[in-house]
Order: sequence, then structure tokens, then C-alpha cells
Amino acid sequence: MCGIVGYIGNNAIKNTITGLKNLEYRGYDSSGIAYIKNNKVIIKKEVGRIDNLLTNLDYDNSVNIAIAHTRWATHGEANKTNAHPHKVGKITLVHNGIIENYEKLKEDLTDYSLISDTDTEVIAALIDKLYNKYSDMKLVLSKVTNLLKGSYALAIINDDIKDKMFAIRKDSPLIVGYDNKSTIIASDIPAILHVTKKYYLLNNYDILEISSNKLNIYDKDLNKIVKEENTYDADSTTISKDGYEHYMLKEINEEPDIFKNILDKYIINDKIVDIYDISKYENIEIVACGSATHAGLIGKYYIENLASIKTSVYYASEYRYQKHIYNQKTLVIVISQSGETADTKEALKIANEANLDTLAIVNVYKSSIARLAKNVIYTHAKIEVAVATTKAYMAQCLILLLLALKVNPDKTIINELHNIPNIMKKYIKKDYKEIASVISNYDHIFYLGRLVDYYLALEGSLKLKEISYIHSEAYPAGELKHGTISLMDNNVLVIAIVTDNKIKDKTISNIKEITARGAKVIAITNDNREFSDYKVLIEDNILIPFITIIPMQLIAYEVAKIKKCDIDKPRNLAKSVTVE
Ligand code: BG6
Repeated sequence: MCGIVGYIGNNAIKNTITGLKNLEYRGYDSSGIAYIKNNKVIIKKEVGRIDNLLTNLDYDNSVNIAIAHTRWATHGEANKTNAHPHKVGKITLVHNGIIENYEKLKEDLTDYSLISDTDTEVIAALIDKLYNKYSDMKLVLSKVTNLLKGSYALAIINDDIKDKMFAIRKDSPLIVGYDNKSTIIASDIPAILHVTKKYYLLNNYDILEISSNKLNIYDKDLNKIVKEENTYDADSTTISKDGYEHYMLKEINEEPDIFKNILDKYIINDKIVDIYDISKYENIEIVACGSATHAGLIGKYYIENLASIKTSVYYASEYRYQKHIYNQKTLVIVISQSGETADTKEALKIANEANLDTLAIVNVYKSSIARLAKNVIYTHAKIEVAVATTKAYMAQCLILLLLALKVNPDKTIINELHNIPNIMKKYIKKDYKEIASVISNYDHIFYLGRLVDYYLALEGSLKLKEISYIHSEAYPAGELKHGTISLMDNNVLVIAIVTDNKIKDKTISNIKEITARGAKVIAITNDNREFSDYKVLIEDNILIPFITIIPMQLIAYEVAKIKKCDIDKPRNLAKSVTVE
């Protein structure tokens, strides 16, 4: 997803670029920077990685205003013309979001000859036209809020006002960090930490007028507003790989400690505390995107089995447009690592508009979804940089288990929770390179499982395809014989998750049907019997899903390494899709 950074203060180019690099994890395909030097706006933009932008970049440390952007192409392909910043007339800006009515707006901008395919350039022309009429940027931005439909976070510089920067947001995330000699605006926290840990969160239509020693914030009616101060509480002032080759590997290695930190926060003297009580609901609807949906399915497994509450799980992009049959005993739970995913946010709004109780399970503190939901539980997984989620997914699964345990505090499970971090560490230490080399030779892979093993298979399959680009799909093992088994031959590899003791014999017979047709099978299992070509053996445990997650994630990681993929920033992917 696009990322924007704007900075006013000393050494603006360096500080802006540092911020931009800390947004790389959001996913992008081009980047650019604009800065004011010798009373002129200089723009540089390149396709591909930020390193391309840095080649021959003028790091003049006397520059004190800069805006920059990483673009994840939505309107128009990834090329230099479409890359941001866009300059039209006196206005230069960067944009994260999608303007839904940009073609309509373009019809009234025929006096401008726009050169790109982007909606962003239309915004710049619109602001330039309004500025030439009203010559007051705050007033112009207030008027723009009634004209733009869709989502936007904008950082703007104006040829006529060389000592100020302006910004405004609607639905796309934007925060403003500050210290006594500089101000930085950005799409997300990681981009400001090299400058400051102090920041304000911005609401829709907040208008910012920023000069080197003053930050004014206005509402859309141009009333000045005072914001609540926030201080980012992580110990790290910047994000780093801490010596690991990839953020994904670092974040998998963090999982045991994150698991323990969550237990320390939400289980005191074996009592579940600070976890929302779901016992009064008859029906729970879990809504999310990507891996968060797969965590939701693990939640379904635990909530139905421990708390005996009917639980359904939906992809947010489907949920938004389907028929909703609610009763007031329905709880809608949304799960989102970033707390900014557009589809999930819109699904939450539907539940809020139906006056239902809503609960958000979120990682990013005070993100849009966290602020929109009536109740929120934070996953405390710290900043997750790798686009393919690992630790946040695991944390989401654990929070959902705690929701179920709050209703039914099963002693055996609560006791076993404390053992899981050390068991996880054991499986993190194991070597999965050999099994990964088998997998890397295939172009078509099926993950299979039944019930909770199928829910895990969905996540294992997504992890593999996200970062290794190998075609993979997850299938309920019992369903395979109704059609898909026609694909089974010696060009296909099956990875079977076989850990649920109540049902694994059924899965094993499905595996035999598959090997009889020539496909090779890797089993991730707690069962010593011989029923597959390869086996990743894991110890049996009442909480085995939390153990199975580790080999699944590390196998995907090792395959992607063999395939020399860009593991932390897979092609076409974004860490959080804040557009529809
Ligand atoms: C995708 C991410 O874009 O969005 C996935 O690549 C993630 O890792 C999904 O699971 C949902 O994102 P979020 O932030 O709402 O959990």
C-alpha cells in the first residue's frame, strides 16, 4: 500500500528518506520525493525500489521541507509519470488512497493538461485551481473535503508558501509526529520513530498547516483543534532486523516472547483478565481479510468448542455486500493487524450502523479500526514489518482462544498455555531446509486438513504462495474426492496437516487415496504411523495448533529463500490494503 512522508526541520531530505524506507514494508512499486531548494520545488521519482530513487539524490542538508511517497499502483501502471509527487501549477503533493470521482472532477479541469493516469494528479489540479481562486490553503482544503469522494492522505507543498507544508486525511491513515524543532507526517508509526516518539492521531478532514516551528490543526470548518498527545511506547526508536536475514524470520522468532507477553497481560493467577466477555451472545460473526480471516477460523474452533457459541467467519470483502440477518445477541468481531484495511473497516461500519456490539482485535494502537469499534483488544505483537504476517496472526489466534477461555476457563488448557512458548522455541530451532527443497521443485501444491487442520492449512497455503509465488491452495481433505482429486498426479505435491486426534484417521485415508494416484505427500503431523512420503513430526499437545503454525511458517520461509524471492516485500502485495 502507498506510504506518504512529509517533514519540516533540519536535514529534511535525509529525514524524509529515512521515514520513507521505514514504510517500504507496506508494499510499493515506485517512489519519489519533492523538496524546496533555492526557492524552487525539486522533484525526483523512480520506478522500483527506493534505492533507485537514492541514486544521485542530492542530500543537501540545508533543505528543510520535503515530501515523499511509495506508490502501490492503483490507477495507472508503475512508471515514472504515474509515480508521486505530482506537481500541477503551484501545487506539489503525494497521496495515499483512491479518489472515486476523479474522472468527474477531471471534466471541470479542462484548463489543465494532465500527463499521468492517476487520480492524484487530478487532486493537485483541483487544489491549484481552488488556490488560484481563494489564495488561502486552509480554505481550499476545507472546500476540497466536499469535492473529493473516496480516501486520501495528502502531504502538500505550495510554490507560493515555501516555509509551510499542508496535509489532510480522509479514511487513509495519517499521523503527525513532532519535537521542538521539527514536524513529520506519515502514513504509519514506523516512519516517524527516527525523529520522535511523540505524535498526534488525525481524524477524517483534519487540516494541518505546518511550519518549522508551528503546527496548526483545524477541522473542516477551520476551527482550530487541540489534539491528545500520544507517545509510542515501544523500546525501539527505529525498526531493525536485529541481525536476522529477513524481518519475517525475526518476527517468527519473536512469537514465543509475544505469546508469553500476551499471557502475562491477560492471565493473572490463572484468571483471564481484560478480555471482553462474549458469554451473553448467541451468535458471533468474525470478519477479516487475508491471514486475519484464517485466525478467525481458529477462533471459531475454540469459541464453538469451549464456549459453545455459534461462530461464523467471513471475508470482509464478501461480508460488506451480503445479506445480514442480525439479532441483538449478535457480536461482530473484526480482526486486523494494521487496523487500516479498508474492507474490514467498512464491514465494521455495517455492524456499527446496525447497532450491534462490535469488538476489534488489532495490533496497531489507536488505528482506524481500533477507534471505530465499540470494544478493542490489542494483540501487543509490536510492529510487524514483513508483509506476510506471522507473529500478528499467531497473536490473533491466542486472543481468540482467550476470548473462549474467558467463558469456559478450562484449567488444563490454561496450564498448558504457559508451556507453549518453550515448545515453540523448539520448533523454531529445527531445520526445514530439506523439506523446503522438495517443495521448491513443484509448481502446484495442495494443503489439506479437516476442521482445525483445514483452518491451519488455509494459512499455510497463503504463507507459501505469498512469499514463494508457488501456486498453492488449501482444501478440506474430505472434499477432495468430489472433483479436485482429478488433479492428483505425480506433478502435484500435497502438504497434509494431520494433528487433530479425533479425526486424523479420516485424513490419513484421504492421503492414501492421493498417494494411490501418484501425488507426493508431506505430512505435518503428531502421528508416528507411516502414511506419507515425507513427514514433519510435531509433538502432540492440547494446544497443537499453536505449535503447527511454526513449521508451516518456516517451511514457507525456507522455500521462498530457495526461490530467491523478496521475502519481506513480496511482489504485488501490501502490508495493509487501505483501498478497496
Ligand atoms: C494483506 C496482508 O494485505 O492484508 C496480510 O498482506 C493480511 O498479511 C491482510 O493478513 C489483512 O491485513 P490486516 O492488517 O487487516 O490484518
